[in-house]
Amino acid sequence: MTILVTGATGNIGRKVVDRLLGMGAGRVRALTNDPVRAALPDGVEVASGYLRKLDGLAAAFEGVDRMYLAPAPDTVVDVLALARAAGVERVVDLSGEPQGWWGRVAESVEACGLGWTHLWPGDFMENSMMWARQIRVNGAVREPYPRIASAPIAMDDIAAVAATALLSEEHLGTSLSLAGPEILTRAELVRLLGVALGREIPFIEVSDAEAVEALRPAMGDRAAWYVENVLGGMVEQPVAPTGSVPEILGRPAVSFARWAADHVADFAEPATG
Ligand SMILES: NC(=O)c1ccc[n+]([C@@H]2O[C@H](COP(=O)([O-])OP(=O)(O)OC[C@H]3O[C@@H](n4cnc5c(N)ncnc54)[C@H](OP(=O)(O)O)[C@@H]3O)[C@@H](O)[C@H]2O)c1
Repeated sequence: MTILVTGATGNIGRKVVDRLLGMGAGRVRALTNDPVRAALPDGVEVASGYLRKLDGLAAAFEGVDRMYLAPAPDTVVDVLALARAAGVERVVDLSGEPQGWWGRVAESVEACGLGWTHLWPGDFMENSMMWARQIRVNGAVREPYPRIASAPIAMDDIAAVAATALLSEEHLGTSLSLAGPEILTRAELVRLLGVALGREIPFIEVSDAEAVEALRPAMGDRAAWYVENVLGGMVEQPVAPTGSVPEILGRPAVSFARWAADHVADFAEPATG
């Protein structure tokens, strides 16, 4: 069986490649814009391409049985038509509920006639990287809502679920809502980063506008969108842990404390500018 990982150098796709190799998947093919820069592990077939460049995808899909589909809503319908024509049988897609931003991916996958499993993650632990610069430069985090909460999940757990779904028959036709093991407020996330770093990191409550300015060096123009829509959305819709990661993987989901301990270097490096 040949499994294609699209977006194979992305934050999640790259981890899906590693998980598939670790689980002894037969043939793993990785789709990337730049095979040389990607430096994928030995044993991985590398195909050149990108989901938003339809030319060349037919060749990448040749001989593929199953694929991990990275999110590219604008081209997803054409991508799936090419995959189906090439003989791909099943798709495990990173997407979201039909009514949300990533819903077009899920709906298109269901409509295309291939077997499917949807991965619907909530907040990512990796999103806390947006604070890394503030922590390095000022030793504190500035945000407006210390008490809003989410149940963030480690991207590596999402990748492990993706690899499991690609290799088994069990999750066919299922939407897997994925969250981390505990609900944590923004203030608790910052406190746990402090524990991992071995020093207190104050959570400084500021206005929305000040938070946007604090995040702008790390996030650019997305900072305003993030504060208004993502943080604003959490006020109205706290996310509960789903328990699906232990059910699927047979082990607990990675805790934020563990994730933070593993990523200390990302927050502790000296500022470079
Ligand atoms: N529920 C949710 O929260 C949810 C659901 C679905 C999706 N998402 C979003 O999905 C994303 C997953 O991130 P990811 O890093 O795994 O995947 P990604 O952003 O799709 O990127 C995967 C790869 O695609 C290529 N690529 C991306 N943007 C490109 C561009 N503009 N031009 C050319 N190539 C481009 C790059 O490959 P090369 O290295 O080969 O150039 C990149 O490594 C996150 O942004 C996340 O927010 C979230």
